[in-house]
Amino acid sequence: MKDLVENRRHITLTDKVRLALLIVKENGLLWCLCFAVYYVCSSVSKRAFDRMDRLRREKGIPGMNSRALNKAIWEAWDWSAGGEEWSPSEEWKQAVMTDVLDKHIPQGASVLEIGPGGGRWTGRLIGRAATFLGVDISESCVEVCSKKFGGKPGVAFMAGSGCDLKGVPDASVDALWSFDVFVHINEPEVAAYADEFKRVFKPGAVGVIHHGSVGGKLGGWRSNITHESMLELLKKRGFVIRESFKEWTTGGTTHQAGLYEDVITVFTLPA
Ligand SMILES: C[S@@+](CC[C@H](N)C(=O)[O-])C[C@H]1O[C@@H](n2cnc3c(N)ncnc32)[C@H](O)[C@@H]1O
Repeated sequence: MKDLVENRRHITLTDKVRLALLIVKENGLLWCLCFAVYYVCSSVSKRAFDRMDRLRREKGIPGMNSRALNKAIWEAWDWSAGGEEWSPSEEWKQAVMTDVLDKHIPQGASVLEIGPGGGRWTGRLIGRAATFLGVDISESCVEVCSKKFGGKPGVAFMAGSGCDLKGVPDASVDALWSFDVFVHINEPEVAAYADEFKRVFKPGAVGVIHHGSVGGKLGGWRSNITHESMLELLKKRGFVIRESFKEWTTGGTTHQAGLYEDVITVFTLPA
């Protein structure tokens, strides 16, 4: 259906009338009425999306990705599923943990997680960490994670402003993990966080960040960050990109970093 709508300019008006009569004959009026509604709505929604996208760029407005909105949404979220609602399958989650998290987060590290949410990755990170700190813009995530994982020695959670790491000492972090968080953060706040990474990373520390790549053009409530701008702002601060990928293959299965062409970037601060 989507193909038909997108390709409609390639069919002449006379042929469209002929096709319409054939469609009515084969499917009946009710089906055709539904089709007409779908056809009109899809055009209107595409125009509305393009206009929103242009307005956001021209006027520098935050769209759905301001700090205030992120905080409000995630404080209102029902965390009873623990964030598993975003894992497409158990196999995918295992692959992320084995091929990405375990590969890059060193055993015995001082680990910082930004945006732990309901703790989807937190247990695995704590299992590898000597010390662990989770910083989230949402107080309710801090509460949920403190209940789930608090009380363990060396494990702490705190609420943050959404663009800084106040309270995290200079040169104290060996490894940073953040998944499904930077996809929602606009470029100025990502840049502010990157300044903070520079401050809190120990020399040789590693960061693993899942983020958007097309500036929100595919929807999915993605922020205005692009793949190029993310890599550029990390490199500008002296980080070295270890790898940056949209998918990976393991045991013959290819896994996507996420929906909407999301990317996982792994970077280090040179020792
Ligand atoms: C989609 S949830 C992902 C949670 C978890 N990382 C996961 O993968 O299941 C987004 C999380 O990012 C947090 N968040 C959003 N914007 C943030 C910001 N600017 N700084 C820190 N955390 C933020 C939200 O509060 C929420 O916990």
